[in-house]
Amino acid sequence: MAVTRSTEGTSSLSAAAAEISKRELVRYILRTQASERAMARAERVLPLGVASSFQFYEPHPLVMQSASGSRMRDLDEHEYVDFTLGYGALFTGHSHPTLCRLVTEQLARGTLFVSPCEDNTLVAEMLVERFGLPQWRFTNSGTEATMDAIRVARGVTGRPRIVKVEGGYHGHHDSVLVSTKPSAEDAGPATQPVPVPATEGLSPSVLAETIVIPFNDLTALERVLAPRDVACFIVEPVMENIGICLPDPGYLEGVRELTRRFGTLLLFDEVKTGITAGWSGAAGHFGIAPDLIALGKSIGGGLPLAAFGGSSECMDAVVTGRVLHVGTYNGNPLCMAAARAVLGEICTREETTRVIECNRRFAADCHAALVVRGMPAHVAQFGAKGCVTWSVSPVRNFRDYIATDFDLAFAQWIWGVNRGVLLPPGLDEQWLMSVAHTDDDLAFALDVFTRFLDTVVDPSRIDDDDD
Ligand SMILES: Cc1ncc(COP(=O)(O)O)c(C=O)c1O
Repeated sequence: MAVTRSTEGTSSLSAAAAEISKRELVRYILRTQASERAMARAERVLPLGVASSFQFYEPHPLVMQSASGSRMRDLDEHEYVDFTLGYGALFTGHSHPTLCRLVTEQLARGTLFVSPCEDNTLVAEMLVERFGLPQWRFTNSGTEATMDAIRVARGVTGRPRIVKVEGGYHGHHDSVLVSTKPSAEDAGPATQPVPVPATEGLSPSVLAETIVIPFNDLTALERVLAPRDVACFIVEPVMENIGICLPDPGYLEGVRELTRRFGTLLLFDEVKTGITAGWSGAAGHFGIAPDLIALGKSIGGGLPLAAFGGSSECMDAVVTGRVLHVGTYNGNPLCMAAARAVLGEICTREETTRVIECNRRFAADCHAALVVRGMPAHVAQFGAKGCVTWSVSPVRNFRDYIATDFDLAFAQWIWGVNRGVLLPPGLDEQWLMSVAHTDDDLAFALDVFTRFLDTVVDPSRIDDDDD
């Protein structure tokens, strides 16, 4: 959905964006006083006042009190049409009635057995049917799912190294906290990126064992796999932590062929794509069969559930005990009840298709609004997700992403928040459309977006009473 337009005038638009952001930040502070007070209290006992550093943003995050369907309400009693949806975890929307019913029924029957329950099998069978891989294990977060899948890959191949993509985020375990968002100064040459730690506290061995390559670059992949010491290539089939970055035609097929040729296992991280990409995930959408898949977020409908699945060869390592996979809360009956609701009753094949079709139309409407105003931006859309990317050309990798206009992206975000449309605060995220979003929600969001675009074109239009 790229807009073909020269970049002439971009800097004047960025200046307009900076002006809008300045005024909107003042407005934000004035309308979110209860959030500010709550954060001041929280900061005394929680680093940054939050439970995950991703939840913090300047000047202070919105503090929420409740959510239902497509809406969230903050402490200042502002209601938002929520497109953040738990960073893409709530394809069902908030507190879907069916999910609430099944989880409530389970609450009365026990929350933790630490013994098998029949729902473990039922949910695993649903994942087999959707994703094609024959065996699954449950975890509590996407982080654990990618961590355990990588351990399986190392155990099965006996190889120490892994390959990941620059700009890819796969959770907060050490092996993958490399080059998630490196600064341009540290990142090295575009075709041969330098592995950059994403945090202090990593062992130096991590940097030696995690190789970083650009997305959409088969030559780089072949180069790093050729020594035959790589256990797995972990990759999102569609990168969803730099907006939405689609694979070039033939890229995933090339990845599959190269990984097979060099005896490296292919691990699709579908924590974000998963069932929001289509009934059988991105793997099914593109018709590629990886050796391992990590899932999370949307399969749990807001409860902490994730999973990894693997080929028989991979999962035999768990069966024989060569690779240990354990966890007190794994497969707990409460999360299983939620997954039964999500996979079995709410996000059916038909409903998934309906929501994705609806998202396609919404993305096309947003794109048309950009085109009509000659904006140097485009809409990227995949499955039930979408984002406005402030560049003329589509983003093919991390280096393209960091060249997009973050002034415009921030102005668009804060403009929306002040008018009741909540997009993810991390500008690298994307919107998610849920089964709960209504035509009215979408018309409202489109109106707020087009008013933003009109104000970028003519900043004198800013109206303080506009709410
Ligand atoms: C692609 C991807 N993989 C893994 C994870 C880690 O999931 P979690 O935050 O549940 O640990 C994330 C989280 O955003 C993600 O985006």
